[in-house]
Amino acid sequence: MDVFTYDPGFSSTCSTKSAITYIDGDQGVLLYRGYPVAQLAEQCSFIETAYLVLNGELPNAAQLQSFDQSIRRHTMINESLKMFFNGFRYDSHPMSMLTGVVGSLSAFYNDMDDHKDPRQQEIFAHRMIAKIPTIAAAAYKRYFGQPFMYPQNHLDYCSNLLHMMFSVPAEPYEVDPVAAKALDVLFILHADHEQNASTSTVRMAGSTGTNPYAAIASGIAALWGPAHGGANEAVLKMLSDIGDVSKVPEFLQKVKDKVAGVRLMGFGHRVYKNFDPRATIIREQCHKVLKHLGKENDPQLELALKLEEIALSDDYFKERKLYPNVDFYSGIIYKALGIPVNMFTPMFAVARTVGWVAHWIEMVSDPSLRIARPRQVYTGADVRDVAEIGKR
Ligand code: CMC
Repeated sequence: MDVFTYDPGFSSTCSTKSAITYIDGDQGVLLYRGYPVAQLAEQCSFIETAYLVLNGELPNAAQLQSFDQSIRRHTMINESLKMFFNGFRYDSHPMSMLTGVVGSLSAFYNDMDDHKDPRQQEIFAHRMIAKIPTIAAAAYKRYFGQPFMYPQNHLDYCSNLLHMMFSVPAEPYEVDPVAAKALDVLFILHADHEQNASTSTVRMAGSTGTNPYAAIASGIAALWGPAHGGANEAVLKMLSDIGDVSKVPEFLQKVKDKVAGVRLMGFGHRVYKNFDPRATIIREQCHKVLKHLGKENDPQLELALKLEEIALSDDYFKERKLYPNVDFYSGIIYKALGIPVNMFTPMFAVARTVGWVAHWIEMVSDPSLRIARPRQVYTGADVRDVAEIGKR
C-alpha cells in the first residue's frame, strides 16, 4: 500500500526540481540563476533580468538588444480585446479584468502544437511579457473610464507602462525617469520567487498540457489573494484603517490578540524567517522615490515606519520571526507614483509574468513531467447506502 504524507500548505513538500531561483530563508538570500537579487537590482534592468530568468544567463549586448526589440515588437494586443474590456462593469477590480483577458489570449493564440518546441516557447514568452503591461494599463483605463492608450515602442518597458496608464490623448504625459527606474527595480525584485502559490498554480495547471496563456491566467487568479500578491493592496488599506501614528499600539494589540481577520499585512513570510532581502532593497528605493517626489513627510509613510519600528521590537513578532516583506514597502512606492491601490497587484502580476513563463517553460521541457496530482487525507463518512428520498 502507498504511504502518503499529510502536509497542509505544502510547508515541507518539494513539488519540483528547478534551476531558476534559489532562496535561503534563514540567511535572507535570493538568487536568480545564481545572481544575488541586490546585484541585479543595482546593475541590471528589468528586461536584462527577464532575459536571465528565462534563458539562464545574462545577455551580452547583442542578445539584449535583440530580446528588447522583440519584446517591444509584441506590445500590441488584438483590437477586438477592447470589446472584451468594455464588457466588464466600469468598476471591476483590475485583477478580475487581468485574469479574464489573459485567459482570453488562449483564444487568440492557440497555435502552439508542441509545447516542447523552443521556438514556440520563445514566441509565447515574448508575447506574454510584452502584452501584460498593455493589458494591465487597459484594465486601469477601463476602471477610470479613460480611452485606452496604445504602447509607444520607443519607450523602455516601465516607461511604456507608465505612459499607457497615465497618458490621455488631450494631455501627453512626460514619464519621470526616477519613477520609471523605481518601477524597474520593483519589477526586478518581483520577477520570480520559486514555488510560491501563483507559480505553483501555473505549474499545476500547465502540467495538464493546457494552453499556456490559460495557465498564466490561473497564476494571476492565485496572485490576487491578500496572503500573496494582494498583500500590497492590503497594506495600504491597513494603514488607512489605522489612520494615525497614535493608534499603532492599539492596532498591534488587536493583531497579537488575534482578533478575527486582523494581521499585520506586509509582515511575515513562509520562507524568510530572518529578513526578506527584497524588503531591504525596496525600503531604500522607497526613501529615494519619496525624496525625489517631495513626499518624505507623507503621513502614511510616517505611520508605516512607526508600525515597522514598534513591531520589530515587540516579542510577539520577534518570537514568530515576523519581519517586513517586500509588500510592506511596494505599496508605499506605488502610491507615491500616483498608482491607485487596486492597481498594486496588477503591477506585481506584470513583473511576476517573467517567472511564471520561465517556470512553465522549465516544466514542459522536463522529460520527467507528470501531471500534478496531490493526494488527500479523507475525513468524510464511511461507505453507506442511498436511502429513498422519503426515508432521509
Ligand atoms: N501578522 C500577525 N501574525 C502573523 C502574521 C502577520 N502578518 N504572519 C504570521 N503570523 C503569526 C501567525 O498568527 C502564527 O502565530 P501562532 O504561531 O501564534 O499561531 C505564526 O505567525 C505563523 O503563521 P502562519 O500563518 O502559519 O505562517 P505562514 O507561513 O503560513 O504564512 C504568510 C505566511 C505570508 C501568509 C503570513 O505571514 C501572512 O499572512 N502575512 C501577511 C500577508 C502578507 O504580507 N503576504 C505577503 C507575502 S510576501 C509577497 C508574496 O510572496 O506574495
